[in-house]
Formats: sequence, C-alpha cells, structure tokens
Amino acid sequence: MGCTWDQSFLEKSSWKADLFKGKVAFVTGGAGTICRVQVEALVLLGCKVAIIGRNKEKTDTAAKEIAQLVGGDVVLPISGVDVREFKQLESAVNQTVQAFGRIDFVIAGAAGNFICDFNHLSANAFKSVVSIDLLGSFNTAKAAMPELIKTKGSILFVSATFHYYGVPYQSHVGAAKAGIDALSNSLAVEMGPFGVRSNCIAPGAISGTEGFDRLIGGADRKKTLSRIPLQRLGTTEDIANSTVYLFSPASSYVSGTIHIVDGGAWHVGTHFSHELYPDLLFKDPKITSKL
Ligand code: COA
Repeated sequence: MGCTWDQSFLEKSSWKADLFKGKVAFVTGGAGTICRVQVEALVLLGCKVAIIGRNKEKTDTAAKEIAQLVGGDVVLPISGVDVREFKQLESAVNQTVQAFGRIDFVIAGAAGNFICDFNHLSANAFKSVVSIDLLGSFNTAKAAMPELIKTKGSILFVSATFHYYGVPYQSHVGAAKAGIDALSNSLAVEMGPFGVRSNCIAPGAISGTEGFDRLIGGADRKKTLSRIPLQRLGTTEDIANSTVYLFSPASSYVSGTIHIVDGGAWHVGTHFSHELYPDLLFKDPKITSKL
C-alpha cells in the first residue's frame, strides 16, 4: 500500500524527532491498514519495530517500505505467525529480543472481521473471530509481558466501539472487543505495580479500511458522515497520533483507559451497519456470507 507518511511528519506533527530513540515495539497485524501507520509513526520517531503477520510477502514488503522512511534495519518482519497460537508468539518475542535487545511497547493489533447476522453466523465463525481478536490479544500480552516488565513498558490493545450498543451483524466482533477491554482493564490493575501501563484504542469509522467499507455497505456516504459529530471520517493518521501519545511520556499516568478516536460518533450511536438493518437479516445466507 506504500507509506502514508514521510519525513515531513517530523516537521508538521506535534511530536519531537527521536521521541522513541532507543525504544522497541512489537506489533501484531503491523502490516495491516491501521497498524501499519502506527508503525510508520513510531519508526519516524526513532523506534525500532517488529511487525508480526501471517503472510510472508505482505509482512516483508511492509517492513521494507517502512524501514526506507529512515534507513537501516529498523523494522523486523516476522511472518508465519497466527496470533491464535501462543508458541508462535513466544517465538516472535524471542526473535525480537534477539534482534533489538528489548521490547518497550506492544500493539495487539491483529484482528479479523466480517459482516454476518447471528442467524447465519456458524459456531466456528464466532470462534474464529473471538480466537483471533480476543485470544490473540491475550496470547500477545502473555508472550510479551515478561519483556514489558523488564522495561516498564506499555501495551495497547486495538478495540472498537461496536459493543457499546447492540450493533447488528457484529455480535462476534462486539463480544471479542468487549473481552479485550476487560482484559486491558485487568492488566492495568495487575501490571501497574510492575510499572507496565495497559490501554485500549477504539477507532471509529476510519477511511480506507476494509472494515469501514464493509460496514457502510451501499449507504449514502455523505449522510453517514453527517452523523459523525466532527463531520468527517477518521484517518489512519488520527489513530497513529493517539498511539504516539499513549506510548509517550506525556501519558505516563494514563493506564486502564479506553481511548476512543471516533470524532464523537459513539455518543450518537454507531449507525453504520444500521443502513443494512433489518433487510440483511432476511437475505439469502449465500449472499450474506459474501459481504
Ligand atoms: N461470513 C460468514 N462466515 C464467515 C465469513 C463471512 N464473510 N468468513 C469466514 N466465515 C466463517 C467460515 O465459514 C468458517 O465457518 P464454518 O467452518 O462454519 O464454515 C469460519 O468463519 C472460519 O473461516 P476460515 O476461512 O477458516 O477463517 P480463518 O479463521 O482462517 O480467518 C478471518 C477468519 C476473519 C480472518 C477471515 O474470514 C477473513 O479473512 N476475513 C476478512 C479479512 C479481515 O478480517 N481483515 C481484517 C479486518 S478488521
């Protein structure tokens, strides 16, 4: 997909160059749309990053492109890792420490989603999403925590705002993200005494993401945007800027929060999939599953 940012980030952004010099991040889903831009920001600010993914070509290409932003071997691609498999994450953590010596920041960003109503959602489909999103987040935290304790580091889970309401066609994701929020809150309490902070970031409607394109379906974009208090879609840069804040010393007393980046949208209800409601419930399952 190419890099979203370049060196001008250092001149235009609110952050100072070298903010994360000497720091190392471990990011699952780091080649994906949102997490990739989080990684770009960290790298531009001096961090070294391991990006963890399933697909070798996608992970290697993203690592190469992001590293070119600053030059040098600052991005380590680790592919063939399924976050549902704890041992694979443990090995990825070891490879990161071997290459970069430490882990200060973790982003549990790997996620899977599709639109599906409850009547057509199989038990295996539910299990698959909960396993990637919730179990995968647990596995990531579990594997990396010993390193975070050593560095008094910080973990950031990628959540959502779906579960604040009964959003249709997202029962599987809503259940998983609610679990992630609960996991992060408990870690903030249990790991605080070890100096480790734990927070969630909850993106709203972010442009250019697969998830948003699917949720909005054929709905009128202009009408959808008008329902967001800030009258625009979010961007991957918005999520990355909040990520920088949550890892920076500026947030050193911030733990156990759900940091919502949605232009105020959840206060008026997450309407997006409502455009498909209730008609989608009565459609042929073969059509539903292709959404
Ligand atoms: N609608 C309904 N059920 C679906 C589905 C869809 N669009 N996609 C997958 N499933 C079901 C499968 O049918 C299967 O259930 P079954 O055994 O009862 O038939 C179950 O989910 C697991 O499917 P599988 O293909 O083995 O998935 P996986 O575990 O390898 O991966 C996803 C799951 C979510 C990653 C995969 O569906 C996917 O690639 N989604 C789109 C990409 C994506 O999620 N990107 C991230 C956006 S946040």
